[in-house]
Amino acid sequence: MKLTYLSHSCFTVETASHRLIIDPFLTGNPLAKVKAEDVEADYILLSHAHEDHLGDAVAIAKRTGATIIANYETALYCADQGAKKVHPMQHGGAFQFPFGRVKFTIAHHSSSVKTDNGFLFLGNPAGIILNASGKTIYHAGDTALFLDMKLIGELDSIDVALLPIGDNFTMGPDDAARAADFLNAKLSVGMHFNTFELIKIDPQQFVDKAKALGRKAKILGVGESLEV
Ligand code: NI
Ligand code: MN
Repeated sequence: MKLTYLSHSCFTVETASHRLIIDPFLTGNPLAKVKAEDVEADYILLSHAHEDHLGDAVAIAKRTGATIIANYETALYCADQGAKKVHPMQHGGAFQFPFGRVKFTIAHHSSSVKTDNGFLFLGNPAGIILNASGKTIYHAGDTALFLDMKLIGELDSIDVALLPIGDNFTMGPDDAARAADFLNAKLSVGMHFNTFELIKIDPQQFVDKAKALGRKAKILGVGESLEV
């Protein structure tokens, strides 16, 4: 399958039969080169409800008819906002979709949207394990480092781990390199960096630190693809 980095935590995954987009934050994203109006998708996967992840999900779902896969509260929120098809999930649960299997894992973070009446908390943030076309991609969402990443790496042989490296809100380069090691991933790719001032880092640090632990990591340019 083809994995493409659209910037921040947004990736598209093209399987033989379906088009997926994860955390489609495009509008208002200074690094994004693709417009939400131009995205074609069959499924939209959301790690959590923060605006830099929920992003254009509802607009894309309304236009394309894509199904939104998210934690229970975020999925029903998207339905309230006008998404026609949503699929709620929770940590530890997996489901066989037409394109492959999705399992939600824990992530240490929060999940909310800001409304006129204050914050609306929408379930718990997740990581996403996608098994499709005989390969496994793990999108960690926004998270701190946690030791159970070792278990995630034991239960699934991870071909590509997508890890936040921008620090401040998530893991930084040191912890993300350790995550790559815990996960025993064949390749780790950095995400969630340099979009905003608070997460400006030198992403090469992540690659170098992972290498020092004997792990292969890389940074994709915006729009760059990998065959997984
Ligand atoms: Ni977040
Ligand atoms: Mn975020």
